[in-house]
Amino acid sequence: MISQLAFLFTISAFAPSVLAVGTPFGQAAGTTGGGSATPQVPSSLAELTSWLSDGTARVILLDKVYDFTSAEGTVTGAACKPWTCSPNPQLAIDANSWCTNYQPSAAKTTVTYYKAGTTPLKVASNKTLLGKGSAGGIRGKGLKITGASNIIIQNIKITDINAQFVWGGDAIQIDGGSRIWIDHNTFQHIGRQMVVTGYGAVTATTFSNNVFNGDSTYSATCNGQHYWVALFTGAGDQITFALNYLYKTSGRGPHVGGTSGYYQNVHVYNNYFVSVSGHAVDPGVGSKVLVEGNYFNTVTTPVLSDSGQVFLPTTSAQVAQCASALGRNCVANTLLSSGSLSSGTDTGTLNGFTASAYKGASVMAASSVGSYVQANAGVGKVN
Ligand SMILES: *[C@@H]1O[C@H](CO)[C@@H](O)[C@H](O)[C@H]1NC(C)=O
Repeated sequence: MISQLAFLFTISAFAPSVLAVGTPFGQAAGTTGGGSATPQVPSSLAELTSWLSDGTARVILLDKVYDFTSAEGTVTGAACKPWTCSPNPQLAIDANSWCTNYQPSAAKTTVTYYKAGTTPLKVASNKTLLGKGSAGGIRGKGLKITGASNIIIQNIKITDINAQFVWGGDAIQIDGGSRIWIDHNTFQHIGRQMVVTGYGAVTATTFSNNVFNGDSTYSATCNGQHYWVALFTGAGDQITFALNYLYKTSGRGPHVGGTSGYYQNVHVYNNYFVSVSGHAVDPGVGSKVLVEGNYFNTVTTPVLSDSGQVFLPTTSAQVAQCASALGRNCVANTLLSSGSLSSGTDTGTLNGFTASAYKGASVMAASSVGSYVQANAGVGKVN
């Protein structure tokens, strides 16, 4: 009897602190992941792999870094040199004949990389993957969601995936899916995308409070800043991208669209962009990107001129233009020591943001974003 009572007490006192923290908001509102399943710590790489991909609702708790780097050995294969800048350009693995098909004039070479980076962990439906304190992470391998739903990935580091090589691996890849909350994670030293969707539609999905740390030795732009940050190119993506910290990146922050016939609506708000020697938002063909309440601090090109639609208000007259579509004014962005805007005034963007997940967002003033995001984004701030 005494031991039963002790057991019950332990569970009720412990459980709330290890389930996902906070409430998913924006597009991912209502996501529950593994729900109230008892949190379990995987005892091995194999157990983590199995638990992420099986058909059971789970809360998987990571209390250390699971290092897959050399778990599958190395591969030596064809590669090319698409970037000729210096110092330290990334090289590209000739995955699916990419070098041959898209970089025919690039010099050829041979490289050796870790296979584990190119074989992401499958994440099935009804999972919460949660880090403990600042300790939880996955190294040398990323995560892939394909047509699954109801997933929370919170408070983990994903790092060191063949960082020297494009096509060496993505951190989080989603090809079709819904009700996905990617929150309070930290990404650094990734070969290709830190996060990417395509080509299946990714709906009801929020990327929030993440640190995209672009500080790297190798880069496609040879300035020690990672280019391949966020790419949203699914066929009908509905995404909230909020309260993230993009630091020392050089591109794709985020890149949305780019495939004729597809469309994406992405709400980019209250993000803190710092030291971006390159571009932040890139609205490609098919995209509508609403950019509000962000703080751009030392960003060379806050928004690229591309063929998608983007609304990025900076004045009181512009914020008022949101009222008819959103039922509220937008919140102005702030640009400090940043490049001037050559686009971002397309009010035709706004009819893509009439859903309550967008209209109802509580967007703080850009002046509060720097201190809020620095204090709250990334691992170690929750749980
Ligand atoms: C996820 O959980 C829901 C609710 O319990 C269930 O209906 C659904 O079948 C689960 N999905 C999978 C793929 O197991």
